[in-house]
Amino acid sequence: MSDRYAASRAHGERARRTIAGGVTSAIRASQRPHPIAFARSRGARIVDVDGNEYVDYALAYGPLLLGHSPEPVLAAVRRQLSEAIGFGASHRLEAELAEAFCRTVPCAERCLFSSSGSEAVAAALRIARSATGRVRVIKFLGHFHGWLDPLAVGGPGAADGEPASGGQDPAASASVTVCPWNDLEALERALGDDVAAVIMEPVAVNGGCFVPHPGYLQRARELTHRAGAVLIFDEVITGFRLALGGAQERLGVVPDLAVYAKALGAGFPISAVCGSAEVLEEAASGRVSHLGTLNGNPVSISAALGAVGDLERRADELYPQLELAGCELAEILRTEAAAAGVPLVVNQLGAAAYAFWSKSPVDSHADALEADGDAYRRFARALLDEGVHVIPRGLLYVSTAHTNADLEQTRVAVRSACVRVAAAAAPA
Ligand SMILES: Cc1ncc(COP(=O)(O)O)c(C=O)c1O
Repeated sequence: MSDRYAASRAHGERARRTIAGGVTSAIRASQRPHPIAFARSRGARIVDVDGNEYVDYALAYGPLLLGHSPEPVLAAVRRQLSEAIGFGASHRLEAELAEAFCRTVPCAERCLFSSSGSEAVAAALRIARSATGRVRVIKFLGHFHGWLDPLAVGGPGAADGEPASGGQDPAASASVTVCPWNDLEALERALGDDVAAVIMEPVAVNGGCFVPHPGYLQRARELTHRAGAVLIFDEVITGFRLALGGAQERLGVVPDLAVYAKALGAGFPISAVCGSAEVLEEAASGRVSHLGTLNGNPVSISAALGAVGDLERRADELYPQLELAGCELAEILRTEAAAAGVPLVVNQLGAAAYAFWSKSPVDSHADALEADGDAYRRFARALLDEGVHVIPRGLLYVSTAHTNADLEQTRVAVRSACVRVAAAAAPA
């Protein structure tokens, strides 16, 4: 069986001689039997360097909402490549993209563009602190906002608000209060007149695809408004994925600022902060310095325009399709796991889902800490052997490119993987 991944293993051995750890983002090291190296992809399919083909539910960790290499994005990028790769200066497409944001995202009256989600989160915090003249920030246990020091605390899998990584400056997060989510009393207790911002994933996808309790976001909106704090929705995952206007449109709560990345660029590096003209006046006035050599890079902007344009034009067709594909994937996993006696719990909302190896429901960060991550990673490996590629920690994404045939193939693969893991777990 291990021969199936021989070229990936050889690649890993080569890479480790020159790339620290052999992978270029630490999370990729968790894949079993070892990180898989890929060669090409199209639609919902991805092919590794051994020639194995998979139905892909990792989708580059989320950006590929339109699938791999969607034609409208390729066409826009090709057009731009024949014009210019970079200006480091103003160009027409950046205003077009900002206009698309202001049409589609409820909170968007002004935008800023950067290259990654982590950077855009940092910009949003700086803007909120400047707008309020305050420093303290509230984030939530189990929510992820990127790898930079100030907010890399209390993320998925964390028992508390300790820094997530060696080498972090504890002073950078000293002004961050980590609160339990979906708990209004805790938020009310934490909110004082020193709080600059409350930042959250409006649907906590990273921690387990947890949806807010009815009324939670509305009340959080009221409380932050009353406290004079800036409410920031981190829509890096949910933006364009859960609705054209993101989680804020789907759930009907408009934050002051929102951060976008992933699906915005359809695989190209671009992120955005958008929000009210009043709060973004901090950047417009120059009080907040928003910098970046690659900000507004025309190739990334053209990719985003291709993606957002396609989503806008075909919203009535694509969003129901994403809804169905997400439900179908969750149903496949639940049904096949139950039939094989595999303890799989699947939380799903639209085109995002999270699966846990757990005998009981997983409805909160505390529940997620009880789930068996190693067992799920073994299941993810079994899926890989059957031709289905997933993120080993439990996240699952569908795209507009997933067809009924892809889902049917997935059902057969999941059935075999469940039977295999159930047999391996059975007492001898
Ligand atoms: C909700 C959320 N915010 C921020 C980030 C950081 O984005 P990036 O990896 O582009 O820096 C991520 C990345 O997964 C994310 O899921």
